[in-house]
Amino acid sequence: MFPIESYGETMSPNFDVPNIARIYDAMLGGKDNFAVDREAAERLTELEPLSPLYAREHRRYIGRAIGVLAERGIRQFLDVGTGLPTMDNVHQIAHRRAPGSRVVYVDNDPNVCAHARALLAEDAGVAVLEEDLRFPERILDGARASLDMDEPMCLLVTGILHFVPDDDDPFGAVGRLVEAMAPGSFLVISHITDERVRDTRPSDNRSGLAVYAKSNAPMHPRNRVDVERFLRGLEIVEPGVTCISEWANPDPPLLHEELRGVWLAAVARKT
Ligand SMILES: C[S@@+](CC[C@H](N)C(=O)[O-])C[C@H]1O[C@@H](n2cnc3c(N)ncnc32)[C@H](O)[C@@H]1O
Repeated sequence: MFPIESYGETMSPNFDVPNIARIYDAMLGGKDNFAVDREAAERLTELEPLSPLYAREHRRYIGRAIGVLAERGIRQFLDVGTGLPTMDNVHQIAHRRAPGSRVVYVDNDPNVCAHARALLAEDAGVAVLEEDLRFPERILDGARASLDMDEPMCLLVTGILHFVPDDDDPFGAVGRLVEAMAPGSFLVISHITDERVRDTRPSDNRSGLAVYAKSNAPMHPRNRVDVERFLRGLEIVEPGVTCISEWANPDPPLLHEELRGVWLAAVARKT
């Protein structure tokens, strides 16, 4: 566990409310979580026993997407909704696949940023911004110190968009970030979809949404049509909008069937 003292006085984490970054960390087998987060992760796993595998599949998708874009010459990565440091972080994958890449991590959770800063203090070419997706101009202002906005880059918004309700206009925010990127840039998204959980409501205790309803950021799954709205005006990279485990995965199908209708992935290029 990361020493609590280093969170600083104004950033002391809330031990009573499950936190989406820490639930995900618990799901991935990490150690940066508290009892309340582990309980939430256990409940989610009770409801869907494959949840920990889904979380790992999700990280693998991110790894494949970065690998594909590194091959296409991308050397700058803006990762909004970074999450707690985990098994293979964006900067590690990027530096392995494309040495010299620059990475800016953005998260609105001060504890996530504290972890990221502590872990990355010695990593050249990596910066951490405590900012919120809902304020894209502030993200752009901060990112400009590290990224050359005239050169193509990759914007990652993975595992975050379903925590931003329509009322907070995630479509507008992502659209503004994409607008600011140079042609030849890429958008990488992943999104929990309600295709298979259409009938469940946060008030239904048999739904994972009920677990998230008690967290610091309730979950708002979207249907495929709404997920595709994030990609409007962009050229969708093959294999298109698929489930996370299918996206550019050369391995034999493992969780494809199970993940269809649960977690969508897409990579798109700005022309
Ligand atoms: C489940 S984690 C995803 C981590 C990582 N991106 C991944 O896909 O594996 C979601 C992260 O998004 C962050 N987040 C949620 N809403 C946000 C917002 N409006 N602005 C910035 N970060 C946000 C949370 O603090 C959390 O760290």
